[in-house]
Amino acid sequence: MPLRQAIRALPQNNTRKGRQRLTRRAVVVGTGHYLPERVVENAEFEKTLDTSDEWIRARSGIERRHFATEGDTTSSMATAAAEAALKDAKLTADDIDAIVLATSTADLTFPSAATMVQAQLGMTRGFAFDVQAVCAGFVYALCNANALIASGQADRVLVIGAETFSRIMDWTDRSTCVLFGDGAGALILEAQTGKGSNADRGILSTDLNSDGRYKDLLYVDGGVSTQSTGHLRMQGNQVFRHAVEKLAKTATTALDRAGLAAQDVDWIVPHQANIRIIQGTAKKMGLSMDNVVVTVQDHGNTSAASIPLALSVGKERGQIKPGDLIVTEAIGGGLAWGAVVLRW
Ligand code: UT7
Repeated sequence: MPLRQAIRALPQNNTRKGRQRLTRRAVVVGTGHYLPERVVENAEFEKTLDTSDEWIRARSGIERRHFATEGDTTSSMATAAAEAALKDAKLTADDIDAIVLATSTADLTFPSAATMVQAQLGMTRGFAFDVQAVCAGFVYALCNANALIASGQADRVLVIGAETFSRIMDWTDRSTCVLFGDGAGALILEAQTGKGSNADRGILSTDLNSDGRYKDLLYVDGGVSTQSTGHLRMQGNQVFRHAVEKLAKTATTALDRAGLAAQDVDWIVPHQANIRIIQGTAKKMGLSMDNVVVTVQDHGNTSAASIPLALSVGKERGQIKPGDLIVTEAIGGGLAWGAVVLRW
């Protein structure tokens, strides 16, 4: 039976004793990423701002970041990451049913960056859409893609996180512009049969949260209906206060939903905003930094791109291996936060 037909024949989710028992699992079969060529070291900012390499490293763990050059857009970087993921999975765009792209910095107000990627990949079937949950965007996108696969709506989903945050920086604001970077990462999720236990490969559980009362802690002071592009504004220390507690809680909730505990985790692959948040979350979960994939030193905070970038780099480094239990977690503007537990 051809692969596509075999996948279509997979059973859909069923419910037993009131608990959802997944039998269609969304399994990662390919990863890829793209980073723009321009690398900016912390010391560059010393030329124009009252800041230092020492302050940036000590407070955030960031050493350098990539910035988009003139020709780079969110969709062009997303397409490059997607092509790398397709190559890794030995698939072509024709094998993909849906594209879910997490971004807060789409090329245009509309159409979605996802449909632009669809066209750039030469994909003329299926469907594509963007998800906007700022730094938590990739976790939200994974949850959406998992639901599409679990429900039988799609058999293979390209899930991308791509951002050009350099376009919304206020270069005079030292408290934000030294923190962010640009890039894109992509995963391909494929429907495969699982036994419904947490030993299955694929996405095992998810947890999503948001609380709009915290809008003013992290936002862009412009948008279509206010007729400007705007710049990113952040009360960093306030976001920091929420981060460790909410991230450890969402990760633990997601693990609990899968019948797992922190001790079962091989890798935390966190949103890469600040090494102190990453360390604090691991500590709160009772895990060592040896169990954490860290890329913040080289990428800075790439918002929705940071988790797929870290997954792709973690795989390339030989850290993440088939069968490993992974928990990803992220928090950002909204506030919006969440976690996904998956077996690689
Ligand atoms: O990805 C979305 C979610 N975002 C995050 O998770 C970011 C969370 N927040 C953070 O990562 C940290 O809060 C920051 C890295 C943004 C800041 O670190 P902090 O330890 O919370 O510092 P702070 O904001 O409390 O500022 C401490 C001092 C201030 O000076 P005073 O008021 O103590 O005199 C700032 O003005 O550091 C000053 N400062 C800087 N100094 C040198 C702020 N930015 C800089 C800078 N260089 N770039």
